[in-house]
Amino acid sequence: MALTGRIALVTGGAQGIGRAISEALLREGAKVALVDSNPEVARECRGRLEEAFGVGSSLFFECDVTDWAKLQEVFRKTVKHFGHLDIAINNAGINNEKDWQKTINVNLTSLIKGTYLALEHMSRENGKDGGVIINVSSMAAFMHSPHMPVYTATKYGVLGFTKAMAEASAVGNFGVRINVLCPAYVDTPLLQTIDEEDKMGRYFKYKEELRQSMHTYGILDPSLIADGMMMIIKDGSLNGAVMKITASKGIHFQNDEPMSA
Ligand SMILES: NC(=O)c1ccc[n+]([C@@H]2O[C@H](COP(=O)([O-])OP(=O)(O)OC[C@H]3O[C@@H](n4cnc5c(N)ncnc54)[C@H](O)[C@@H]3O)[C@@H](O)[C@H]2O)c1
Repeated sequence: MALTGRIALVTGGAQGIGRAISEALLREGAKVALVDSNPEVARECRGRLEEAFGVGSSLFFECDVTDWAKLQEVFRKTVKHFGHLDIAINNAGINNEKDWQKTINVNLTSLIKGTYLALEHMSRENGKDGGVIINVSSMAAFMHSPHMPVYTATKYGVLGFTKAMAEASAVGNFGVRINVLCPAYVDTPLLQTIDEEDKMGRYFKYKEELRQSMHTYGILDPSLIADGMMMIIKDGSLNGAVMKITASKGIHFQNDEPMSA
């Protein structure tokens, strides 16, 4: 997929991984709607992106993805403004074991909503031209982090939902490729939550073990995650792919065992 003139929507786009992929898309000539609930980081990000890529190449929406009506409105306004939608990246996520219901709501329920909204605007079923969706999971979906059990559960959920949706898209001829990305530790503000008792709850006491785990597995630069996403966006053959990104193996894919009866 050539990216000039393509339209992307990125949730959690103002910081960390979301910002890295937004910048990568803008560098290749796409236009990007950034959706974020944090007005301060969004303001700073907006200034930088408009300076680097010009006013008009990006749109900013202050929106909490758990607000269903507002998220719906954001998709609608993006399509109204830019004319259509080609790429949706459901990236917004949090680590909060104390308010674990919120973690499920942001990381899984809202990602499902984001996927359905993206399909509404891209699926051939709705008379649209197709596109690509990337849902952000984590290596936590493979490593069963004992100190972030609910976060881990949401990332398992993202993995299962996305793979099932990719098959639904193939069977239903949606024309939309749906893939999931599973990064290991990435150098973003999300990692700092391990120092916040308010976020870690009963698992706060294990923060040194988590730190040790980061030391063992390494911490990736967000730009590498953006490289992986660009690979998924550009490779038209990928649907239902599970991309893993780790320090030891770099960008690679999970190979599933074929299902036997
Ligand atoms: N950093 C890591 O080590 C790591 C590893 C694997 C997967 N991930 C996943 O990558 C994604 C991005 O994480 P990150 O590391 O860039 O985090 P981050 O905290 O640096 O950035 C997340 C962005 O999402 C926004 N956001 C949070 N809740 C939101 C909500 N309810 N509505 C709208 N925006 C919201 C934040 O304001 C922030 O700008 C998450 O899904 C995370 O689980 C992160």
